[in-house]
Amino acid sequence: MATTPGSTPQDFTDLDELARLSPYEDEDDGDDAVRREAAADESSRASRHWWDRNADEYQDEHGEFLGDDRFTWCPEGLDEADVRLLGEVAGKDVLELGAGAAQCSRWLAAQGARPVALDISYRQLQHSRRIDLGRGAEPVAVVQADAAVLPFADGAFDLACSAYGAVPFSADTAALMREVHRVLRPGGRWVFSVTHPIRWAFPDDAGVEGLTVSASYFDRTPYVEQDDQGRATYVEHHRTVGDRVRELVGAGFRLLDLVEPEWPAGHEQEWGGWSPLRGRLIPGTAIFVAERG
Ligand SMILES: C[S@@+](CC[C@H](N)C(=O)[O-])C[C@H]1O[C@@H](n2cnc3c(N)ncnc32)[C@H](O)[C@@H]1O
Repeated sequence: MATTPGSTPQDFTDLDELARLSPYEDEDDGDDAVRREAAADESSRASRHWWDRNADEYQDEHGEFLGDDRFTWCPEGLDEADVRLLGEVAGKDVLELGAGAAQCSRWLAAQGARPVALDISYRQLQHSRRIDLGRGAEPVAVVQADAAVLPFADGAFDLACSAYGAVPFSADTAALMREVHRVLRPGGRWVFSVTHPIRWAFPDDAGVEGLTVSASYFDRTPYVEQDDQGRATYVEHHRTVGDRVRELVGAGFRLLDLVEPEWPAGHEQEWGGWSPLRGRLIPGTAIFVAERG
């Protein structure tokens, strides 16, 4: 495998080598964290740049937990192989939104599904290609796009899924739900995991600080990190449980289940603000299981 700086980074199978030749600058991390409005275009732009710059670190830090071909829904470690929230996947066309390095899609392909892994970040999708090249396997089909504007025909998929993918980062999730509804065939499932909405009332801290309410659960003002020019560099959007249900139903879905994974005994691995301490007391993840009407 060529490793000269002039060769294309997607040729690399090695995480360190891919990172060494990264075209993405490490930028000053002294951004301010604020709560303020952030429109759809500003949110998408921030997400694309943030995930391009941070994909290497994300895959380095979480790649082992995620597994190259495992479908885990959340830091609690709930595995699709055990819970089958998507139902039967063999022979199905499946769209994964905010796929990152497409670990979930790789599991789906191994079950006989035909997945398409969509992500806004080119760098995340390069990691998908890195994993496929390293395994010498048929590469997962990847598409770089914003989940709010899906580049697919109506009714192109049987199933759609997202593990902490695009949903928390999108400003207009009502529109995103309508887009997913449009590209699904009647009866198709749409299953997605997000930070449990109640977590927005607590500081994002894995320790005891993270156990005391510090903000209103009802405050939907986005969490924004911004540079010294006031430009958003990272955005997350909050919806209450009721908001999420209304957006799904408004788009034409039926809600089949709302899964709140409990922190498993013996699971000691922290992931950001997700820790055994907090996980035993308050939910960290909400997984919405819906079906297209
Ligand atoms: C927390 S990561 C989750 C990735 C993967 N599902 C996993 O479990 O590792 C969030 C992903 O969503 C992607 N994303 C954020 N906003 C998006 C958008 N508007 N459209 C598509 N993907 C988006 C990011 O690029 C990133 O890869």
